[in-house]
Amino acid sequence: MSHKDVKEILCLGAGYVGGPTMAVIAEKCHDINVTVVDLNEDRIKAWNSDSLPVYEPGLDEMVKGRRGKNLHFKVASSELLASADMIFVSVNTPTKMYGQGAGRAADLRFWELAARDILKHAKSGTIIVEKSTVPVKTAEAISRILHSGTEGKQFSVLSNPEFLAEGTAIKDLLNPDRVLIGNEPGEEGKAAGEALANVYRRWVPTDRVLLTNVWSSELSKLVANAFLAQRVSSINSVSAICEATGADVSEISRAIGMDSRIGPKFLQAGVGFGGSCFKKDILNLSYICETFGLSEVAAYWRSVVDMNDYQMERFVKRIVEAQFNTVAGKKQALLGFAFKPDTNDTRETPALTVTRKLLEEKAKVVIHDPEALENAKWDLKDEQGDISYEPDVYKACEGAHSVIILTHWQEYRELDYERIFSAMEKPAFLFDGRLWLNPEKMHKIGFNYLGIGSSELMHI
Ligand code: NAD
Ligand code: UGA
Repeated sequence: MSHKDVKEILCLGAGYVGGPTMAVIAEKCHDINVTVVDLNEDRIKAWNSDSLPVYEPGLDEMVKGRRGKNLHFKVASSELLASADMIFVSVNTPTKMYGQGAGRAADLRFWELAARDILKHAKSGTIIVEKSTVPVKTAEAISRILHSGTEGKQFSVLSNPEFLAEGTAIKDLLNPDRVLIGNEPGEEGKAAGEALANVYRRWVPTDRVLLTNVWSSELSKLVANAFLAQRVSSINSVSAICEATGADVSEISRAIGMDSRIGPKFLQAGVGFGGSCFKKDILNLSYICETFGLSEVAAYWRSVVDMNDYQMERFVKRIVEAQFNTVAGKKQALLGFAFKPDTNDTRETPALTVTRKLLEEKAKVVIHDPEALENAKWDLKDEQGDISYEPDVYKACEGAHSVIILTHWQEYRELDYERIFSAMEKPAFLFDGRLWLNPEKMHKIGFNYLGIGSSELMHI
């Protein structure tokens, strides 16, 4: 096969990355047949239904437009592996919870199983694309597995990390800041890198498609997430100083963000970062540093996660202290459970930590979220305590002592807060964990308003 003609793409893993990424390739390359497979049959069923397993603006239309044409969702099979020219591996790479590196290293067992399946069934010459986020040098290890067969099959392994953010996945995939492709040295590696670059170049400007060596590409992904999370932890650390001094963190974000060297993005203080990747990728980076004897570097990055934990703790402490040091038996209405708006994803959401801590304090917790209630129920199924889920936001707040904003869904800005206030217990508290509402306006309605990183507007 000439690497120029990629006609059959297979993606292992129909998750938050595999599904949207393949939908965009299918949308932009009608002549390429794209199949996404998963071991989880229910997930595949959902991708073939009217109710997709991933909520992303623009995804529904795109999938429905290409499904059954050049986009297919199927259960994994040896035949599909055998007919692919290019195989993306977009399986989960969670934090390892056992053995060496437990709680920090990446668990690569799903990746390795996928590699062994590829070796068994794929044809020689297939290009393997590492889409999952992995530790530096994984491609090298995978390549060794792929070349361990007795049949002499040859594969090229590329690193092609994904930078999409949830909630804006389709937008990010259609118009990425950059596409990064790391290829192995040698002519074969280069040709494989070009073949993948040519797929992306159909819609991404050539100067945004970067070709690097495999290790730089793998490490860039971890470093990008570490830098982003570090900005959030940095501004959150400043929010603590603001609460202590009476300065306002939003004003500080604006003031420092106007410095073109700092830039305005990712300076929104809040209850902490969540999502499936920031924490796991930083812990993984920190673990890699340790294995290379770089303990100071490891500690530096680890502190980004520590600051995040501290922020969540601090937030709950403030909630309890403001309500006269006890929330036992008091209804607390949590608005938002997803780790950010426009997604139903609740992995590592700060809302989970806040809920657990409030339950420890024996609060009566009611959760509302426009998209993530089902996931919230699943995440909290084993928790003891008074917990309920309410799809009607006004009912969720009825009789509550406090309303706690944990996700900045647009609809939370547009609620009738006078109505909410009048149906609450008094004194009514509003804890704004995302600095999403207008403090003066809320205070005027009658709330005792406490926003992250800003002084308290109280009536009591
Ligand atoms: P996910 O858990 O949503 O999806 C992974 C899927 O892979 C699961 O459905 C699982 O059943 C399936 N799977 C596991 N082994 C398989 C195999 N051998 N064959 C077929 N399917 C298999 O995970 P995700 O959020 O899509 O993340 C995937 C990878 O992408 C991770 O490494 C993650 O770090 C990275 N990433 C995620 C995001 C994000 O926003 N979620 C962004 C960038 C990168
Ligand atoms: C992040 C990165 O932005 C993506 O580039 C990357 O591909 C992805 O991780 C990944 O590897 O999984 P994502 O986690 O989907 O994307 O969402 P972000 O927009 O980065 O937000 C992460 C968390 O940080 C959210 O909980 C968000 O509320 C919080 N955040 C973000 C803040 O608290 N303040 C900010 O200013 C920005």
